[in-house]
Amino acid sequence: MTASHVDLNTPAYVKHPRLIAWVAEMAALCKPARVHWCDGSQQEYDALCQQLVDAGTFKKLNPAKRPGSFLAWSDPSDVARVEDRTFICSEKKEDAGPTNNWVAPAEMRATLAPLFDGCMRGRTMYVIPFSMGPLGSPIAHIGVELSDSAYVAVNMKLMTRMGRSALDVLGERGEFVPCVHTVGAPLADGEKDQTAWPCNPDVKYIVHYPETREIWSYGSGYGGNALLGKKCFALRIASKMGKDQGWLAEHMLILGVQNPQGKKYHVAAAFPSACGKTNFSMLVPPKGFEGWQVTTIGDDIAWIKPGADGKLYAINPEAGYFGVAPGTNMLTNPNCMASLHENVIFTNVAFTDDGDVWWEGMEKDQGDQLPAHLIDWQGKDWTPEDGKAGRKAAHPNARFTVAATHNPALDAAWDDPKGVAIDAFIFGGRRSTTVPLVTEARNWQEGVYMAATMGSETTAAAFGQQGVVRRDPFAMLPFCGYNMADYFGHWLQLGAQLQAQGARLPAIYCVNWFRKDEQGRFVWPGYGENMRVLAWIIDRLEGRASGQPTLFGTAPQYAEINWNGLDFTPEQFRTVTRIDPAAWAEEFKLHDELFAKLAHGLPQALKDTKAAMQQRLQDTPAQG
Ligand code: OXD
Ligand code: MN
Repeated sequence: MTASHVDLNTPAYVKHPRLIAWVAEMAALCKPARVHWCDGSQQEYDALCQQLVDAGTFKKLNPAKRPGSFLAWSDPSDVARVEDRTFICSEKKEDAGPTNNWVAPAEMRATLAPLFDGCMRGRTMYVIPFSMGPLGSPIAHIGVELSDSAYVAVNMKLMTRMGRSALDVLGERGEFVPCVHTVGAPLADGEKDQTAWPCNPDVKYIVHYPETREIWSYGSGYGGNALLGKKCFALRIASKMGKDQGWLAEHMLILGVQNPQGKKYHVAAAFPSACGKTNFSMLVPPKGFEGWQVTTIGDDIAWIKPGADGKLYAINPEAGYFGVAPGTNMLTNPNCMASLHENVIFTNVAFTDDGDVWWEGMEKDQGDQLPAHLIDWQGKDWTPEDGKAGRKAAHPNARFTVAATHNPALDAAWDDPKGVAIDAFIFGGRRSTTVPLVTEARNWQEGVYMAATMGSETTAAAFGQQGVVRRDPFAMLPFCGYNMADYFGHWLQLGAQLQAQGARLPAIYCVNWFRKDEQGRFVWPGYGENMRVLAWIIDRLEGRASGQPTLFGTAPQYAEINWNGLDFTPEQFRTVTRIDPAAWAEEFKLHDELFAKLAHGLPQALKDTKAAMQQRLQDTPAQG
């Protein structure tokens, strides 16, 4: 590699020779005009936000309405994660498995080398050191992202423990995951950006080398494509680290739940993207649950390591929320709304005439009143007439970025390096039939089966064909950095190992908030009312609810749920809990299809669990 001609500007406090050499090597490759090491200070954040305002990327929101907050609109071609451009480049194809895009590492490196050569010309290379997890936590890990996007730098400040403090933890020899990101839009000498959202509309690569633990991202400036600590590191690379090192990196929220007796439990829950994880993690207990408290540790990702006592300890590797704005309101998530008053970065929401933000769903807080006029996420005028014609003011994947410390329901232990001991896992998909409101797995193996076979029905907007079940094992389908069948094996093996040490494993639950009645209407009210299910889970953990056996685990009896404050009839309860044997016979055929796809390395234990469930189905043909 040729030496870089740019001044690396390495601050004196950087003491890690390998890091310095890598930054020099990448500067020589990417050829930025300048290098800026992020220290993570507020001063730096403010200066970068001002720079983004000057560049037209950020609009400063009305300080009287939304102090310290900004709005960015992306290029219309760059609005979401790009799963079809996401690659797991393990040496062997079977190690990536059939659910990942695979390219051999040497071939991918040969493709990327010319793309990255000079990719940052005319731009600044930001060196962004970050800790995923509380600084110095034995469960945390360090990454360093090199990016030519100031938008990425400021988002990373809110989403991670970013800056000098992470380098202090790294010391002189610590391990870090190198992450290289470019928007893929180099500037010729003296050329200025023609657009406020530079990206490469034609070429995108989100590349992971799980064996060498590297991330290379080209062409996008949006969310999980560009904030490499999140999905790329904390899930895809970390899941492989966890497999190799005996821990778990999961697409899970973490919450604390305390009952009126003052006893506190911790729950980690996996739901596919866009199934309300942020809402569940910030749940406000409804009327009838006085004395209960739900607190947030994390809303999207959990890193979970076995402690010396055999318990599973979890941290949230992130320090902020990058959540979907549309649909968020005082009914669906009041704690989230309260988090968004100040110091927020909004991306792709609409801009109001008084300098604030708006998104679909906010009208619920305004007596169903739509604003008379907005500028939509593409910078065009918008009126309720446009809304009626189906034109959204905010992009459906519009986001807010906000530090976790804004959340009024933040758990006191959210930043505790020890993590919190997990008492229960919850897995939930989006199914209009078949999967009941809640069941408890009889044992770890059955729980792994439930999680492995979870799925979500597609919406027409997202995947073309409505109502098709897209299997999303453990909600990890787009995020597992290795073969999904081996991932199931890792869960089974970790459970077996802890049990052999005499540990009591967390109980595993399967939930479904989305059952519909014959008219196609949702029956379960969801949101805060999900507390009723959570309380039943706690009752089970405390041995207060006996439940009833079903072919798909142990289900609550109607009388075991606290219905205080909610009118929900036994008939409605039956609609959301009924197990229809004919539908389940069909469902098992779909499980067969999944298992056929994942046949290479599929653990025998899952096939055995399925056989036992099918036997139960035959033995009790008319349940419910
Ligand atoms: C997310 C996702 O953005 O899961 O969290 O897609
Ligand atoms: Mn997610």
